[in-house]
Amino acid sequence: MDKRPIAFFDSGVGGLTVFKKVKEKLPNEDYLYFGDLKNSPYGAKSREELIEIADEIFRFFEKKDVKAVIMACNTTSANTYEVLKDKYKFKIYPIIQSCAEIIAQLPVEKIGVFATEATIKSGVYERELKKYNPNLKVFEMSCPPWVKIVEQKLQTAPTSINCIREYLEKMLKNSPEKIILGCTHYPYLLDILENFTSRDIFIDPAEYFAELIKEDLNLNNLLNDKTTGSEQFFVSANRKEFKQASSIFYPMNELPILV
Ligand code: DGL
Repeated sequence: MDKRPIAFFDSGVGGLTVFKKVKEKLPNEDYLYFGDLKNSPYGAKSREELIEIADEIFRFFEKKDVKAVIMACNTTSANTYEVLKDKYKFKIYPIIQSCAEIIAQLPVEKIGVFATEATIKSGVYERELKKYNPNLKVFEMSCPPWVKIVEQKLQTAPTSINCIREYLEKMLKNSPEKIILGCTHYPYLLDILENFTSRDIFIDPAEYFAELIKEDLNLNNLLNDKTTGSEQFFVSANRKEFKQASSIFYPMNELPILV
C-alpha cells in the first residue's frame, strides 16, 4: 500500500476527462492535477518544446513525492513519453501507449483518430494501433481550433459548431466504424458532435485508461488503503479561466493554486 499522491497533467482542462474517470474508480486516493495553461495549446508545439515542458512538470511532481504520473495528455504521451519514461522514480502512464492494445482489438477495420497537430505529426497513434492490429486502416486528422474552443468555453457558438461539423464531415468521408477522440479536450465536444453522427461512433480512450491504471497500481501494490481521498488543482496561469472551463466536466468550488 502506498499513501503518496497520484499526479495528472495536461495543457488545461482536457485531462479532467481522464481524472474524473480515474477518481470514480479510485475514490480514496490523493490526487494532484496540474493544468499548464501558460503553455497551452500543446498541439502547436514542437517535440523539443514538449519534452522540456513535461520534464519541468515532472520535476514539480517529484518534489511533491508522487507515486505515479498519469499522462492524461495525448500530445505529451506521443512526443515525450519515450524520452522521459526512465528518468524518474514514479510510475508513468501514457494514455496512447496504454490504451492502444484494447482499441486495436475492437472488431473494426477502419478507425479514425482526431488529435492535435503534434500528436498526428508524431505518428504514434497509427504506430501503436498497428502494433496490435497491422490490418487496421487508420485515418488521422488534426483539429487545431478545437482545444481553444474548449478552453474558452465556446462550444455552443455558431462558428464553433460549424467548425466542429466541418472536421467531422471530412472524417466521415473515410467511413470509419469508430473515431478515437485522441485529445483529452475533445470529449467536451461530444454534445455537439452527436448532433451530426451517432455518439456511439466515438471512443474516449479514458474509458479504458482508468481501468488499466487501477489494475496496474494494484499489481504494483501502489493503491492507497485510506477511506477517503483528496484533490488539489494547480495551474501555471489563468486560474479563473481554468475553473470556468472545467465547469462542464468537473465543476470545482475553489480556484486552483497558481505555481
Ligand atoms: N489535451 C491535450 C491532448 O490530449 C493537449 C491539447 C493541446 O493543448 O493542444 O492532446
